[in-house]
Amino acid sequence: MANQSKQSDLEQMFNRIARHYDLANDLQSLFLHRYWKKKVKSLAAVSSNQYALDICCGTGDIAFELAQTDATVVGIDLSLPMLEIAQFRIQEYDFPINRRSTNSNNQSKLNKKTENVFFIKSDGLNLPFKDNTFDAITIGYGLRNIIDYVKALAEMFRVLKPGGRIVILEFGKPPNKLWNKIYFFHLKKIVPLLGKLIAKDWGAYFYIYESLLKYPGQFIVDKRLKDLGGINTKIINIMGGAMTINYCEKPFKNK
Ligand SMILES: C[S@@+](CC[C@H](N)C(=O)[O-])C[C@H]1O[C@@H](n2cnc3c(N)ncnc32)[C@H](O)[C@@H]1O
Repeated sequence: MANQSKQSDLEQMFNRIARHYDLANDLQSLFLHRYWKKKVKSLAAVSSNQYALDICCGTGDIAFELAQTDATVVGIDLSLPMLEIAQFRIQEYDFPINRRSTNSNNQSKLNKKTENVFFIKSDGLNLPFKDNTFDAITIGYGLRNIIDYVKALAEMFRVLKPGGRIVILEFGKPPNKLWNKIYFFHLKKIVPLLGKLIAKDWGAYFYIYESLLKYPGQFIVDKRLKDLGGINTKIINIMGGAMTINYCEKPFKNK
């Protein structure tokens, strides 16, 4: 019951900030999140005739990246307003006038592939898919938000095919003590201020700091992935561990 109410509060919070979410992401990361998401796509390494799932897809950034590989991509999220923006972006990219302007040498933002991406409202803790369905599963800035991250990881393993990849992009915990202090100060004081200016919502951006305090961080997530049977795990620390990517593969035979 307590978890249900936490999840519903979380959903309301993301509903509230959906409209300003992309702008806030660009400004707060100085557009760098776009490059980190491309890195997620390359680690997911999907190709045509494969299936990818992006959990906590929000407005669809990672799902759209994955779709450029020709794989079939499903993006799921709890927040309808976030999904509405993702769906709107499909129309924006696929508007007939933009299709006419398609030039394979000069792929603009508006001629991305979208016919292979589908968005569904669903819970990352209870995925509506059969076991061993996807070749890759990605989650960007979502694992920290999901109320039970261990259960979410177990669900990912369940629906991932043997040999498939899990790629998790998240705020990290810098191992260097000084950098860690500076970084957490930035998250506690500067990010909520920017959130107030851009999205008129101080609380939703202070939440990044609060949720990161509760999140176990990249090293423990790596251990959990191993506990679940993941192999070839790696941690890619970006900007001294301020951002981080956890990667693992599902073995062909579970131990
Ligand atoms: C910070 S946003 C990340 C959006 C996107 N992945 C990105 O990188 O920009 C986190 C998203 O997780 C979603 N979320 C939180 N808990 C969830 C759950 N249990 N199942 C599905 N989505 C969830 C929220 O609705 C929100 O859209």
